[in-house]
Amino acid sequence: MRKPFVAGNWKMNTTEAEARELAAAVAAGAAGLACDVALCVPFPHLAAVREAVRGSAVGVGAQDVYWEAKGAFTGEVSTAMLADYCRYVIVGHSERRQFFGETDATVQKKLAAVIASPLDPIVCVGELLEERRGGHTQDVLSRQVCEGLSGVELSARVTVAYEPVWAIGTGETAAPEQAQEACRFIRGELRKMCGGVADQIRIQYGGSVNAENAATLLSLPDVDGALVGGASLKVDQFLAICRAARA
Ligand code: PGA
Repeated sequence: MRKPFVAGNWKMNTTEAEARELAAAVAAGAAGLACDVALCVPFPHLAAVREAVRGSAVGVGAQDVYWEAKGAFTGEVSTAMLADYCRYVIVGHSERRQFFGETDATVQKKLAAVIASPLDPIVCVGELLEERRGGHTQDVLSRQVCEGLSGVELSARVTVAYEPVWAIGTGETAAPEQAQEACRFIRGELRKMCGGVADQIRIQYGGSVNAENAATLLSLPDVDGALVGGASLKVDQFLAICRAARA
């Protein structure tokens, strides 16, 4: 009932020329896929990537957004600015939390602004290694979901990405049981907040997803897709991951 959703997160990579080439190659290979596909690209490349994927099934996304509509917020970008260029936006990525001071409270403000806009959010949650080792994974996920996603209308527009921080960019992937257990737990927390709507919300796994491990991860009952960092910069890898997602 939930169509798989694979999103690439290019992070702070690519020149404009590289962005055009990569996006065009993904668009050319994306025909006939059983999943929804999006590329979350650096702000300066949104227009070029939108152009490169035009006419294909590939959606475009941004990697962050600010919650205010406009004003004296140097360096920030609003939902209305993004909505001219893309459909999706990542909110609360662990790198934003780790390096730029984002908290569950700022995630909630950003999410509320996104829900009030035409954009569809991909909200990231996930525990640190020491939190997992200390047996606190569920407490952390519960707090991130209950606080970060509070006070907004939850619907199928929302995607949650479970990204254990220790698996991001490390080459270390969560074991299938760990990924399933965490995603099942997150869906349970969502169910407490929005009842049966939780069964419409897609939950992606993220953290060192690649062409080799994608089929296993994407076959898990509560994993509805992937948020892909490093491997999304390689067209063959990314398309192989997309092909591993079956409806
Ligand atoms: P990775 O990044 O696939 O390179 O681990 C995932 C992410 O940060 O979204």
